[in-house]
Amino acid sequence: MKLNKLKIGKTETPGNLLLAPMADVTNLAFRLLCRQHGADLTYTEMISADALLSENRKSLLKGLSSPKDRPFGIQLVGSSPEKLREAALFVEEEYRPELIDVNMGCPVQRITGTGCGSALLNSHTLVYEIISELTDALKTPVTAKIRILESDKKTLEIAHQIEKAGASALTIHGRKAEQMYSGSSDLAAIKVVKSELSIPVIANGDVVDEKSAENTLDFTGCDGLMIGRAAMGNPFIFRRIRHYLETGEKLEVDRTRQLEDFEAYIVLLEEHGLFSSLNLRMHAHWFTKGLPGSRQIREKINTLKDGKAIIDLIRTSCEDKY
Ligand SMILES: Cc1cc2nc3c(=O)[nH]c(=O)nc-3n(C[C@H](O)[C@H](O)[C@H](O)COP(=O)(O)O)c2cc1C
Repeated sequence: MKLNKLKIGKTETPGNLLLAPMADVTNLAFRLLCRQHGADLTYTEMISADALLSENRKSLLKGLSSPKDRPFGIQLVGSSPEKLREAALFVEEEYRPELIDVNMGCPVQRITGTGCGSALLNSHTLVYEIISELTDALKTPVTAKIRILESDKKTLEIAHQIEKAGASALTIHGRKAEQMYSGSSDLAAIKVVKSELSIPVIANGDVVDEKSAENTLDFTGCDGLMIGRAAMGNPFIFRRIRHYLETGEKLEVDRTRQLEDFEAYIVLLEEHGLFSSLNLRMHAHWFTKGLPGSRQIREKINTLKDGKAIIDLIRTSCEDKY
């Protein structure tokens, strides 16, 4: 039995499987679906502190969370300790999330160009200031998500600053920012951080199935696992990994599973007023990946405008193909 409890701040979850924050992916509907399949804790996609402090924050926050969406963390991205504090106080008051996370790992130029995401890792002082500003001001436990740096020594220095500033947990993706998504996640570097820190450390990167989940937990000794890309179009991965960690056995996966989950996703989008054709097209791409006839299904979906028509199409596809 490898599925351990996880305690971050006051939040205790029965297992230690987390859904990674992913822009355009981890909206409320997708998070609820991953939860139904066994994700213990989920994070919103990154939300810009600047945008949160602007006039049009209402549209930004539409359908951000619901009472069923628990426990969850809100991830903020920013570089000014003061603005991050203001934004965090606002979301704390408005949503009472279990955790507030700071994005210190995003390598995308649009984000690093303004000094945010992984660009923060260039300054220990700023990292320390941001986390302590938040831990001083908030009642909500604060977490951070980083990438590894060019040496274990540098990664550890940053990790220690984050811990010293009062963070309640640290997630670490075992790639350097300049790697983007190339190469593989360096489990040895994650293990070094885990062995030095007292706060919970969550391992992230390249968990794609039962074996990689088991191996990442065993090798790094981390307190939890965060799963990102492998959950896109495949929230069932949480059920599979959970079952395997609990029993040592693999679940049979029904071939209609993906399409059934896609249908459930559309229903949740509609229930929460989040339906948008653009978002649906992106998710359609992931949810139909690898299925026979997936290109035709996607092409047809692109011509449909409402959820019911898409669901009818999916049902017919399921009946035809399986
Ligand atoms: C489409 C996409 C969007 C992402 N958006 C975010 C984000 O908003 N915040 C963040 O901290 N990381 C973000 N990430 C990084 C993931 O959280 C995760 O660290 C990374 O994908 C590695 O984990 P994986 O191998 O399980 O996918 C994103 C990744 C992808 C693929």
